Amino acid sequence: MQYDPELQNHNLPHNPFKALISPRPIAWISSTSTTNILNLAPYSFFNAFCDTPPIIGFGATKGKDSQRNIEETKEFVCNIASYDMRHKISDTSAPVASDVSEFELANLDHVPSQKVSVPRVKGIPAAFECVYLKTITLESYDNKATEYDLILGQVVSIYIDDQYITDTGLVDVTKYRPLSRLGYKDYASVDSVFEITRPIK
Ligand SMILES: Cc1cc2nc3c(=O)[nH]c(=O)nc-3n(C[C@H](O)[C@H](O)[C@H](O)COP(=O)(O)O)c2cc1C
Repeated sequence: MQYDPELQNHNLPHNPFKALISPRPIAWISSTSTTNILNLAPYSFFNAFCDTPPIIGFGATKGKDSQRNIEETKEFVCNIASYDMRHKISDTSAPVASDVSEFELANLDHVPSQKVSVPRVKGIPAAFECVYLKTITLESYDNKATEYDLILGQVVSIYIDDQYITDTGLVDVTKYRPLSRLGYKDYASVDSVFEITRPIK
């Protein structure tokens, strides 16, 4: 089949786009409001775009607390989602009022970060402490506004729980099973890995 995403003429019961961009890693974003309310929410329109320096970004529909907090306080933490946190991650996506902390909602503790004032989630396998860089308003090729903004941040400090580092100094992702979003209501986790050595000159 072939279809036009603007017309959505796929004749399927659900839009297949996100199922085709899968697995998508999940950024579990902690941020703080100017009134010191701790916020936490998952974002799967998420990735890293370079590693020197490390820059990450996520796409958010307009009006999200995370975006407002990050733009106002200029910092955030990207907690790396693991399989054992899957229900709590989903719980923190509830559309609650800005003065409700999802940490309390999902009964989660937090741990201070080293370089930013926003804490990370306690028990998380890894976390990126980020300084806000910029927001890119996403527009279509014919300059129509979309509902989404892309929020970019530079990673200034990285936490890794030592139990996931092997004797040979590698991060063993199969031990914490990174959680990812597929399409529809589906999720997946990384349970096995394989190696391919790149051809080099
Ligand atoms: C696994 C998962 C991934 C999500 N990814 C996104 C996303 O990429 N962009 C978005 O705008 N909302 C996404 N959502 C919905 C937000 O998490 C939800 O709207 C949340 O309430 C936003 O919280 P905030 O207003 O505190 O930032 C996702 C929800 C889940 C469960």
